[in-house]
Amino acid sequence: MTDSGIENLLKEERLFPPSQAFASTATGTADLYEEAERDFVGYWTRQAKERLTWFKEPTEGLDDSNAPFFTWFADGELNISYNCLDRHLDQGGDKIAYHWVGEPGDTRTITYQELSDEVNKFANGLRSLGVEKGDRVAIYMGMVPELPIAMLACSRIGAPHSVIFGGFSADSIVDRVNDQGAKLLITCDGAWRRGTVVPLKDNCDTAMEGTPSIEHCIVVDRTHSDVSMEQGRDIWWHELVADQSTDCDPEVMNAEDLLYILYTSGTTAKPKGIMHTTGGYLTGAATTHALVFDIKPDTDVYWCAADIGWVTGHTYIVYGPLTNHTTSVMYEGTPDFPDKDRLWSIVEEYNVSIFYTAPTAIRAFMKWGVEFPDGYDLSSLRLLGTVGEPINPAAWMWYRDHIGPVDAPIVDTWWQTETGCIMISPLPGVTATKPGSATKALPGISADVVDIEGNSVPLGSGGFLTITKPWPSMLRSIYGDDERYVSTYWSRYPGVYFPGDGAKIDEDGYLWILGRVDDVMNISGHRISTMEVESALVSHDAVAEAAVVGATDDLTGQAIAAFVTLRGTFEESDDLHEELRNHVATKIGAIAKPKSIIFTPDLPKTRSGKIMRRLLRDISDHRTLGDVTTLANAEIVQAIADQAEAQQAKE
Ligand code: PRX
Repeated sequence: MTDSGIENLLKEERLFPPSQAFASTATGTADLYEEAERDFVGYWTRQAKERLTWFKEPTEGLDDSNAPFFTWFADGELNISYNCLDRHLDQGGDKIAYHWVGEPGDTRTITYQELSDEVNKFANGLRSLGVEKGDRVAIYMGMVPELPIAMLACSRIGAPHSVIFGGFSADSIVDRVNDQGAKLLITCDGAWRRGTVVPLKDNCDTAMEGTPSIEHCIVVDRTHSDVSMEQGRDIWWHELVADQSTDCDPEVMNAEDLLYILYTSGTTAKPKGIMHTTGGYLTGAATTHALVFDIKPDTDVYWCAADIGWVTGHTYIVYGPLTNHTTSVMYEGTPDFPDKDRLWSIVEEYNVSIFYTAPTAIRAFMKWGVEFPDGYDLSSLRLLGTVGEPINPAAWMWYRDHIGPVDAPIVDTWWQTETGCIMISPLPGVTATKPGSATKALPGISADVVDIEGNSVPLGSGGFLTITKPWPSMLRSIYGDDERYVSTYWSRYPGVYFPGDGAKIDEDGYLWILGRVDDVMNISGHRISTMEVESALVSHDAVAEAAVVGATDDLTGQAIAAFVTLRGTFEESDDLHEELRNHVATKIGAIAKPKSIIFTPDLPKTRSGKIMRRLLRDISDHRTLGDVTTLANAEIVQAIADQAEAQQAKE
């Protein structure tokens, strides 16, 4: 758990109520809290019926008879792509779904009608390859329009998709594809990143040597790279869709049919395949998208600057905005290419009114300097959002002062891959915000902060965040591992969902998220497990043992600090330091590269052999060392601390 949240809580007294003008037209109003308080199932059922188009309306709300395997709207039938596309076409087919901006500067404007045509053609293409309802499809792509098209096409034919972040390595693809037994893989020849091409198809080729379930690989020609295409297995996207019809009957799905699997890091080396189903997920996505972002579909240009490889992109680039008939911006590249003003030039050009990004990005903007946003007219912005990690008040205030007009509400949204949609956040026309606090649970969501025994803590104290009632877009299980689902989320406090975060509740009942309380790190708003990085390190010949902790980092929230013991014949060197960092990138992906590696003859351990990561965290954060009396090898701690200091001095 980081200290920054506690500091926020101690110091923060600023309160920013919504302006009168904003409140008077707000989509989300205070009475929603009362409605949901009276009958939370009734509230969600109303949202489900009003916001979605059902082939068969549900008569059931929540079924908790087999907890924690909850179901929502279980007798309802619908199709997600129908909700995102078909039902908008009569009145609004010409409306722009995506203003897409490519990193090299090319652009595409895609209307709802065009999106629908492309989705139908690709869905027919998938069917022609034998993909049927229930078959799993893995997707490993850059931020190109074909990515949402692929997801929607899968949802149209009832094939659950599993998007694998394009920054992950071939090994990560193998693990995820094999865990779910995916039948088909969709990729691009490459992805643009800071002017160079990330070789996505090459990574897939390496991965497919170890994924026997994959029958075909469909490849989008994005970068015109020279890639190898295996006859019979690999198919170009444009060739597959060339002769397909723009009509493809949507599969009638049960509300509880699987929509997607998205892998996220847990406390072991094996990522968890989080399962989201159809009716409840879309209800949560559409409702929170409309309320938290105050969506006015006729006038807003909305931009969630996340990657679709993470849950934020699933819910708030694809499913929420399209269900709500919103016009979005989608950008392919990084914020600093070709220069650090890229995002602001896009905001100005498309008159973006709602902008949603991560605190890490905001801290980078701060570091780069106000001259970049100051050079642009950002007056179209009327609401700002953040997600993924605690935001320090300084970054919050900078966001307010330099990006939005100062009276634009900032919504700090807490949620997880598992929750499917935003859980704790201001309602922008109702909630007075405090910099650094995600404020309160949304209508229909019940959150509490409890002590180790599960008792609610009094206002003004800290403890563990819990969600005390089921909600429609909750995960249904971990793919293939119901037991892990129960033990990870539902065992610490029986009957209550445990997200793994620490939190404080202040005198006004505002929630302050303090960070993870387990061995999961949060790097730039992305979850990485210490165990995953440790097992990547020990898979290198030179490494005997490794321990990894999240060290506090001004820019990325946390940074990966590794402590490594080498095998007998290996000697530490700068080259080996680099080699090990790159080895982790090869095993997992560049985001998991340790920032620092300290070589040590031993790791601090208890007498029973358990590594004391707490002490390594103290060392990484330059804190006074905690209690070492329970250690079997207390002397090693000071030796590591000295080495860390020497390494820092060298840098
Ligand atoms: O620790 C919390 C942090 O991110 C974790 C969820 O990570 P992930 O599943 O990758 O989803 C990220 C995007 C939804 C949480 O357990 N987190 C997320 N949002 C916030 C946050 N911490 C503080 N404030 C937030 N707004």
